[in-house]
Amino acid sequence: MVKLSRFSLLSALVVTASATDVVVPKHLPTRELLRDGYAYSLEPVWTQDYISSNLTRNLMKVIASITGKPPTLRVGGNTGDQTYYHPELNVSAAALPNTTVTNTFNISNAWFEQWGSYFPDGTDFLYTLNLKDNSSAWENAVREAGAAYSVLGDKLKLIELGNEIDHFINKGWRPPTWNVAMYVQQWRNISSQIVSSSWYKAASHPPKFQAAVFADPPWLPDQQDEIDDFDIINLTRAGLTEQDKIGSYAVHLYPQSTCDTARWYRLSLNLLSNHSVLWHNVSQYVPQVAAADKAGIPLVFGETNSASCSGRSGISDTFGAALWNVDYVLLAASIGMPHVYFHLGANAEYSSFVPLPYQHKNESLEAGIRSLFYGHYFMAHVLASNKQQRVAQIPTANSSDFSGYAIYSPGHRHHEELHKLVFIDLQVWNGTQGLSNPSTLSITDSTSHSAGLRPVRKVSVSTSWKAGTCLDIIRLQAPGTNAKSEISVSGVSFESQTGDQVGEPQGETVIVGEQGRVCFEMQAAEAVLIEGKQLNDRTVY
Ligand SMILES: *[C@@H]1O[C@H](CO)[C@@H](O)[C@H](O)[C@H]1NC(C)=O
Ligand SMILES: *[C@@H]1O[C@H](CO)[C@@H](O)[C@H](O)[C@H]1NC(C)=O
Ligand SMILES: *[C@@H]1O[C@H](CO)[C@@H](O)[C@H](O)[C@H]1NC(C)=O
Ligand SMILES: *[C@@H]1O[C@H](CO)[C@@H](O)[C@H](O)[C@H]1NC(C)=O
Ligand SMILES: *[C@@H]1O[C@H](CO)[C@@H](O)[C@H](O)[C@H]1NC(C)=O
Ligand SMILES: *[C@@H]1O[C@H](CO)[C@@H](O)[C@H](O)[C@H]1NC(C)=O
Ligand SMILES: *[C@@H]1O[C@H](CO)[C@@H](O)[C@H](O)[C@H]1NC(C)=O
Ligand SMILES: *[C@@H]1O[C@H](CO)[C@@H](O)[C@H](O)[C@H]1NC(C)=O
Ligand SMILES: *[C@@H]1O[C@H](CO)[C@@H](O)[C@H](O)[C@H]1NC(C)=O
Ligand SMILES: *[C@@H]1O[C@H](CO)[C@@H](O)[C@H](O)[C@H]1NC(C)=O
Ligand SMILES: *[C@@H]1O[C@H](CO)[C@@H](O)[C@H](O)[C@H]1NC(C)=O
Ligand SMILES: *[C@@H]1O[C@H](CO)[C@@H](O)[C@H](O)[C@H]1NC(C)=O
Repeated sequence: MVKLSRFSLLSALVVTASATDVVVPKHLPTRELLRDGYAYSLEPVWTQDYISSNLTRNLMKVIASITGKPPTLRVGGNTGDQTYYHPELNVSAAALPNTTVTNTFNISNAWFEQWGSYFPDGTDFLYTLNLKDNSSAWENAVREAGAAYSVLGDKLKLIELGNEIDHFINKGWRPPTWNVAMYVQQWRNISSQIVSSSWYKAASHPPKFQAAVFADPPWLPDQQDEIDDFDIINLTRAGLTEQDKIGSYAVHLYPQSTCDTARWYRLSLNLLSNHSVLWHNVSQYVPQVAAADKAGIPLVFGETNSASCSGRSGISDTFGAALWNVDYVLLAASIGMPHVYFHLGANAEYSSFVPLPYQHKNESLEAGIRSLFYGHYFMAHVLASNKQQRVAQIPTANSSDFSGYAIYSPGHRHHEELHKLVFIDLQVWNGTQGLSNPSTLSITDSTSHSAGLRPVRKVSVSTSWKAGTCLDIIRLQAPGTNAKSEISVSGVSFESQTGDQVGEPQGETVIVGEQGRVCFEMQAAEAVLIEGKQLNDRTVY
């Protein structure tokens, strides 16, 4: 009995005692925060599944209704380098032998038409050409580009030449001498052929190229497929910096992996829900961004998700992953990587939503919405603005379990004014509710429950906001880090089969106190957005 009461006293103390003071300095080094900064990448062989129900389009419309612009869509991935253009095909596309194991993916104009007309108006597209097949001077890739543009027109904004080209030696697609110099030569060959095509010259807004498309993380030699010199520093040093042709450079990042045994054993939800780990993963791109900045061309995360080789249910589809993707998009933007493309594959355990029911690992999964989409919906509120926002990490909100960002927009005389604050509590709190989701594997439903009461953090932020200003608070919440369902953004959730909104936003406000002090509470494992009301002009433009 004595032990029990001491325990409850202790947990009561934990609940009330956790206080966090944050200072938002007058000036912080900011970078652009784009309203379409959160984007998707769709594996070519899976496009038909994603457009065969209304779920994908409805969810993209949900985002556009908040940000004013549907998310950018990349159709690219491994199967991009297995794609062959066959205008005479009697079906729109054919994955050979099938979509789960694909060696060859044959496409026709009808395939571009199907997905090009499915997504909401205003969607920007990026398409990855086959760089692997070098026969007849990449005739296939050059024809793919013409076909894509003939159907998509000006909606086609960017073209990639090959996917994860630093894995080409390992895949047997290039000789062991494959390096930046050879890549630049081949890249220039194909892009010149495209740029000198009649359709390209006639286009009013011809697509640009997204170059690089590297997979290997620069600081982890043990996770590199082969020794090579592929990185943005070496690429720009080699002179691939044509601003008239290159709209952006891309690298891919998967913090964890199911691809090999060693990394499979390291997979963990605790590792995903940790800001220091995210910083370790993302900060390796700071020197890469510096090289891209020097070239005057932005570097983006062109394909990403929580764990490579399709993700890991129980980690990739939990609320912890939703908090991770919020922290990730903001951290990437704050170091100067303005787009993050989350990869989708219909049978991938990390996909944010699943368009159709399917059999997977002996279970029958339903179509539905997974936790990551709620991270995106929360981010839509963060990204929405009719002015160009900029973002900075807040140095005093930068520990392994607590992360914060200040978002500015041009105000009086175009001075940057504090517009929004975002805080993410990344403490792992494993609850007992919302543990299952019929669109995920039930075998991975969490059985771990945290002891005691869920901790509450009292946050006190010193800001440049005027005392008396009324602020809105929006919260990304769930029963715990381990939840796969019962996730909401201030009470709003989405019907899992249709994407229809369920519930109305529960308004919550806070008034700025003396000396710009903003005080509020947040639970362990929760994200909050705080925004100035008078600045909250959501005019769609
Ligand atoms: C899907 O959307 C289309 C176009 O908006 C509509 O005509 C159709 O009825 C929808 N299908 C279902 C099953 O809701
Ligand atoms: C398309 O052509 C292939 C042969 O290339 C044939 O096997 C198949 O039945 C045809 N499909 C349709 C729908 O006509
Ligand atoms: C796909 O093809 C592979 C290789 O031929 C085969 O092992 C697998 O059973 C096929 N899968 C489906 C769903 O047909
Ligand atoms: C698919 O494309 C490959 C490469 O161009 C070709 O060899 C094959 O015959 C095509 N198959 C079909 C069914 O179109
Ligand atoms: C062309 O492609 C083939 C097959 O993928 C590869 O073996 C060869 O090395 C490539 N040639 C060059 C110059 O990259
Ligand atoms: C592209 O490379 C081929 C040889 O693979 C060569 O014949 C052609 O002239 C090159 N074209 C350009 C534009 O560099
Ligand atoms: C850049 O290239 C050099 C060789 O030219 C190589 O030693 C170095 O590792 C490369 N940098 C990266 C980060 O790959
Ligand atoms: C991300 O960080 C974790 C923890 O430090 C590390 O185990 C993992 O290898 C990193 N992944 C990448 C791709 O940097
Ligand atoms: C978060 O990661 C950091 C750096 O790897 C580590 O030191 C810390 O113990 C982790 N925190 C938790 C709660 O696991
Ligand atoms: C699926 O069931 C079969 C037959 O019971 C079994 O051999 C196999 O290991 C199961 N696969 C998985 C992923 O659980
Ligand atoms: C956040 O903390 C990391 C160490 O974990 C440090 O390297 C980084 O500079 C810090 N960021 C800011 C903005 O203070
Ligand atoms: C939370 O639950 C997950 C499994 O869902 C487990 O891997 C993790 O270790 C748990 N973390 C804590 C801190 O209890």
